[in-house]
This record gives sequence, C-alpha cells and structure tokens, in this order.
Amino acid sequence: MALTNNPMAEPYKIKMVEPLKITTKEYREKAVKEAGYNTFLLRSEDVYIDLLTDSGTNAMSENQWAGLMLGDEAYAGSKNYYVLEEAMHECFGYKHLVPAHQGRGAEQLVSKALIKPGQYVPGNMYFTTTREHQELAGGKFRDVIIDEAHDPYALLPFKGNVDLNKFEDLIKEVGAKNIAYITVGVTVNMAGGQPVSMANIKAVSKMAHENGIKVVLDATRAMENAYFIKTREEGYANKSVKEILREMCSYTDAATCSGKKDFHTNIGGFAACNDDDMATAMRSMVVVYEGLQTYGGMAGRDMEAMARGMLEACQDHVMAHRIAQSEYLGNKLIKAGIPCIQPIGGHGVFVDARKFYPNVPQEQYVAQSLAADLYVHSGVRAMERGIVSAGRNHETGEENKPKLETIRLTIPRRVYTQSHFDVVADAVIDLYRERDKAKGLKMVYEPKYLRFFQARFEKLP
Ligand code: F0G
Repeated sequence: MALTNNPMAEPYKIKMVEPLKITTKEYREKAVKEAGYNTFLLRSEDVYIDLLTDSGTNAMSENQWAGLMLGDEAYAGSKNYYVLEEAMHECFGYKHLVPAHQGRGAEQLVSKALIKPGQYVPGNMYFTTTREHQELAGGKFRDVIIDEAHDPYALLPFKGNVDLNKFEDLIKEVGAKNIAYITVGVTVNMAGGQPVSMANIKAVSKMAHENGIKVVLDATRAMENAYFIKTREEGYANKSVKEILREMCSYTDAATCSGKKDFHTNIGGFAACNDDDMATAMRSMVVVYEGLQTYGGMAGRDMEAMARGMLEACQDHVMAHRIAQSEYLGNKLIKAGIPCIQPIGGHGVFVDARKFYPNVPQEQYVAQSLAADLYVHSGVRAMERGIVSAGRNHETGEENKPKLETIRLTIPRRVYTQSHFDVVADAVIDLYRERDKAKGLKMVYEPKYLRFFQARFEKLP
C-alpha cells in the first residue's frame, strides 16, 4: 500500500459525524461532584473529548458497517462465526476459537479451564480484569515484568518484557506444577502500552515449555505490539504486521483477546488455543457464561464486524497511523515539560500524576483527583491508572500501591483529529500551571470487585 510520508494523515475520510457538546466549567464542576469524582460515572454526553478508553469506542469502517447487514442471527452455527474463525486463523493462527462477549468473558473461560486453586499465575504486570478472574479462580498473581516497566522514565524499546530471572525464580520457588500458566500481555496496558519483543516472547516460551508451563497471550493489543516489533526489533522491518503477529502467537499455547480494541469494533472478544482438551473445557463453559460456542455472547452481525475489523487492523499503514496519533499527543506534552510515561505507548499517553501534582500523596488518590480536575478544566475525560485501579491485596486487605500512579489519555481509533489532540494537550499544559491548587480525595464508597469502575470520592479541603 502506497503511503504518504506522514502517518498522522488519516488513511480514511469521514462519512458520518457525531456532534460534541461544549459545557461550562460550572456545569462540569457539578457533574463531576455528582459522579463522585470518578470519570467512569460521568454521563458521556457531558464529555467533550473522551479519552477514557480505546475499548469499544472506535469508529468502524464502511466495510464493517456493511457487514452488519449480513448478520446471520441464527442461535446455532451462524455463518458469521465461520467468517470470524477464518479471520482468526489468518491473523492469529490458533487452532480453536471460542467467542466471548468481550475480553473478560474469555479471561473467565481460560482462568477456569487452567487454574487449580492455590496455583500461581505469573504475568508481565497485572491487568485489572485479567487478575480479578485469575484470583476468582483461586490463582495467585505474580508480577514478572522487568523492573524498568515500573519506572516512568526508563527509555527502553520493549519495556513490557518479561524478566526471565523473575520467572525462573518463581519456578524454583514454587515448582512448575504449582504454576497454572504464564500470561504475556502485548502490549502491556498498565505499564503505559509498552511492547514486548519477539526475542522475549520466544525466550519466555522456551523457559515455560521446558518446564511444562503453558503460555497464554493477552492479545488485546497484539497488532500494536506487532507494529512496534516491526519498527523497533532487528530483522522485522520487512515483515508485515500480520506475519509478525502470527509469529508471536506461534510461540504461545492460547490467547485471550478483547475485540473492542485493535479490531475497531464496539463489542466482542475471544479465547483461542491449540490444545483440543483446553478447547473442549472452554466450550463446555462458554454455554454457561457467554452463549452457544458459535456466538459466545455476540450477535452474528457483531462477529461479522469483528472479523472484518481484524483483517483491516493488521494492515501496516493502519497501525502506523494508530501509533502516530499516540506519539503526536505524547510528544507534544513531553515537549511542554509534562511528566509522561516514556516511551509513549501504543494506545495512549499516561501522565505521571505524582510528578504532576507533587503536593498530593498517593493515599489521597492523586491520579483520580487529576482525572477529575482535567475534566472540570476542559471537558476532556481521562482514566485513573494508579492506586484505585490496583485495588487491594486479597489476602491482607491492604491497598496495593503501584509505582505507576497515572492518568491515561487513551486514543480511540479513527475518532479524533489532530486538532482534538491539540486541544487536549493545551488543556493538560494549562492545568499543569495550576498544579499548586491541587487537592486530594477521600474514598467514600468502595465496591468489592474492580473498585475503580464504581468507587465514589469526595474532595478533601
Ligand atoms: N486485557 C487488556 C490488556 C485490556 O486492556 C482489557 C480491557 C482486557 C483485557 C479486558 O477486555 O474490556 O473487552 O473485557 N481494557 C479496557 C481498557 C477496559 O480501558 O483498558 P474487555
């Protein structure tokens, strides 16, 4: 595909638009207070630029919309399931597909199929829903990401890599039979969208397989990861994103995937694996938790849109534009002296809240407070990725205190333009000038699971 030299130039044009509402600061002050200073509890219509997440918030292509009209809404054996299966084979290469309504549905299936209570599940940093399902299945999560991933400013091309020494130490400490599997997230969301190198995936696979341990890929943003390998790892510049993705998957035994990210869809997900017994175990459960094994909680039309989106997304120029948007916003902020996780990751820009608001301690939910302030200041919605997201240690009840205390300015795919990113950057820079006025928060309601979604706060005086 011939490209312009500028990957920021959108490789699409706009066919349909959605108006945005501009509100006053007073209006937003009231709205955020009513939302308990939790940006998840705001009404979307009260948001100007929505960078809460890149999950399900993407713009579908005309080809995907056309695919919706071909939805075969049969309960069993929908033709769209077979289209999806074929697309998954082409892009990911696993033998078995088990559809799920979204990523966490797939995580539940894999966790229940593979974890025996008491077993450890190492992973390259936790992800909220992934760890929750592992723990609910009786597993114990162990972080085996490299130390640098917890340092916002360590400049490494593959800052999401697994630390092989940590993995080996865990095997020695608890014994391979007490490890259910290792999860490799590509890219690593909570580390700032940092990629994992092919060499690292290969080495993890070797160590795991020599010890009889399965490797499960969290393939949610695997296409972005493949693009980083193409641009950063020696020997991959002339390979396509799709070829690289297939190679990544070839070192792993199974995958969970949220279809709401890379595939430019609004809903969907899947689990995949090569092992027949694992597939049988997941298929016997999918009918209990998701739906029949040929729809797994998705409408036929959604499976069609996801299959089409999957094939579209692993085109090199699509990923080049995707990553260019994140880098554009990130570089603008870094240039203005805003403390951000570096390098800029795939799906957004993570602002270091502790450095941004040095007067507010982590225990007063500094990133949560920053996300609320940014909304009041500008109508831009971000998400907390710090102590609130990290939740509590299930055994001790203590709050987990992550080293990374950030807000995430997440970039939905094909939704916002360069001018929108300029507005966001200006808002963040402007707020930074007022950092002395920052106040912390007190948590007044804490839900039992995944507290960040529904927790409520009050502003401290
Ligand atoms: N794994 C990763 C790395 C994710 O980022 C997500 C979702 C999931 C699994 C779960 O997928 O939402 O389809 O159930 N991340 C969203 C986010 C929610 O905003 O980062 P899901």
